[in-house]
Amino acid sequence: MLILKNICFNIRKDEEKINLIKDNNLKIGKGSFVAVVGPSGCGKTTLLKIIAGINEQSSGKITWNERDLAEQDFSPIELGYVPQFSIAYDELTVQESINIAINIRVKTKDKSHAQNIYNRIVNHTGLDKLSDRRVKVLSGGQKRRLSLALELVTNPRVLLCDEVTSGLDPKSENEIVSLMHSLSKDSDRTIINVTHSLNNLDLYDSVIVLYDGFTVYHGPPSNLNHYFSVSSAEEIYPTLTKRENIEWHESWKKHSSKYEDPLLSRQTNSIEIHNQEQLLSQASAAKQFHALTLRKWKIFLRDRTQIVLHLGMLFLFPILVVLFGLDGIDQPKTIPNQDNSDVIEQLNHQVSVSKSHMKIGSLISGLVMFQVILLTLMASNNSSREIAGEREILEKEKFSGLRISSYLLSKIGFLLILVLLQSVWMGIFVQIFVPSLPGNIITKLIVLFLVNASMTSICLGISGIMRNPEQSSLLSIYLVGFQLPLSGAILALPNWISQITQPFISAYWAWSGSLDSMKGEYFGQSIDAVTQDTSLQSINICVVWLVIHIVVGLFFSYIGAKRPQW
Ligand SMILES: Nc1ncnc2c1ncn2[C@@H]1O[C@H](COP(=O)(O)OP(=O)(O)OP(=O)(O)O)[C@@H](O)[C@H]1O
Ligand SMILES: [Mg+2]
Repeated sequence: MLILKNICFNIRKDEEKINLIKDNNLKIGKGSFVAVVGPSGCGKTTLLKIIAGINEQSSGKITWNERDLAEQDFSPIELGYVPQFSIAYDELTVQESINIAINIRVKTKDKSHAQNIYNRIVNHTGLDKLSDRRVKVLSGGQKRRLSLALELVTNPRVLLCDEVTSGLDPKSENEIVSLMHSLSKDSDRTIINVTHSLNNLDLYDSVIVLYDGFTVYHGPPSNLNHYFSVSSAEEIYPTLTKRENIEWHESWKKHSSKYEDPLLSRQTNSIEIHNQEQLLSQASAAKQFHALTLRKWKIFLRDRTQIVLHLGMLFLFPILVVLFGLDGIDQPKTIPNQDNSDVIEQLNHQVSVSKSHMKIGSLISGLVMFQVILLTLMASNNSSREIAGEREILEKEKFSGLRISSYLLSKIGFLLILVLLQSVWMGIFVQIFVPSLPGNIITKLIVLFLVNASMTSICLGISGIMRNPEQSSLLSIYLVGFQLPLSGAILALPNWISQITQPFISAYWAWSGSLDSMKGEYFGQSIDAVTQDTSLQSINICVVWLVIHIVVGLFFSYIGAKRPQW
């Protein structure tokens, strides 16, 4: 039995306290199928989130089978929650979506155990004939079936559904309500369904009417019209507006003892259903990581726009760099050893040598910086939407027992492969077509990898912190845009500004480290000639800074992914 006692939920807005849920008292029998109805904005979703434990009540107590949920929350196995938004990825098929949900949420003994769970769910929800269909082509009703199916993988004892019938035609709505009814009756499952709709109320065991945060009725659907003195349920919403919320609430407090959820009285006789699957436990971190990695690659490889964009950047960017270095890098001129030449001639030689150093140094510095900047651009494309773009599903999956460590490791594994491909290809391509670019190839590849990884990691952090993917990609693009001016590589910055900005600029460390490692026998003077106004740091210091950027980015990704953002 689920009992809500004096439940209130307040929020603070501009120093003002707003009561969204007011003094709610409810008793819901085990195995009961309950509708929560009420006009838009009356607090239905808020109440459901309080029961789920997503929002913590400001006062009052909730118990489930005499267990205080404040002390021990519903476990992800016990509770299913179908939110108001879609929780499936468009690119996956129905079968893949359900199987991945099983792998993320349930510890299965072997393949046949997982197959049994899958078969039970698709047969029950009528999705067996749609198993190969992609989510994006499903109808509204089929999508709702899938949302329910995804929650059934743990065979939960309590299922909370938010607007799973909204926007459906009457026939589909009828089918979904009948499905929920059978899901409740077949396994003694308590189902609370939030809905605007006053159709099909007869299928519910009891109906809760919420009005402006107050419960103003909870009892059998057959008594609803009598209680509100209306001839049909459709008249209830207009009738509610005729009295103040508090009046309805006071009136309900007076009469509530005469009404109750009919399944409460059945409580003592009810037979516990102990089937095998009720004893399911949560999937391991390794299994979640494996399922998420597989899902990420499937979604990535099926998104043609993303693939074209990534391939375009991968192949075109190195070509762009090479275009500037196709003529090769000359050896710098040296001053001839002629003791008898006159002063004017010696001066002319010196000017010509300085010019040659400047020209060669600028070309080397430009080529290095161009590679670095293009890699930071690829990096922002790699990860700037990664977490923010799937925030709602992430919240839902965290709630269902997904570990942040598994989630983040699957992201790191995926991004690592992109970063390796992009930086190694950039380094090797440029080396092949501009072989005269100085420096050790391994050192150059390490620096390119690190700058790409650091920016990818920072953009991943941004996508974890930001509220939506648009904000996140905008901030990431600004960050990439500021790399060049703030690096001091093109225009020297005032010393005090560069001291503040440079630590944060990955491109500066990569450029500086690369140039420092290129100061070999021939090019030291050329590189010095173009970096007079910017102090170069040693390659070792630059590597340390880039690694720090990676760690900071991952730290923010973790904090951001962990922080609830419903
Ligand atoms: N975090 C929040 N901050 C401010 N206001 C909030 C917050 N959450 C909910 N509200 C407000 O609380 C009220 C109830 O919201 P809720 O989402 O529970 O309504 P609802 O009954 O589910 O509406 P609908 O039928 O449209 O889904 C609304 O007025 C909403 O704007
Ligand atoms: Mg709602």
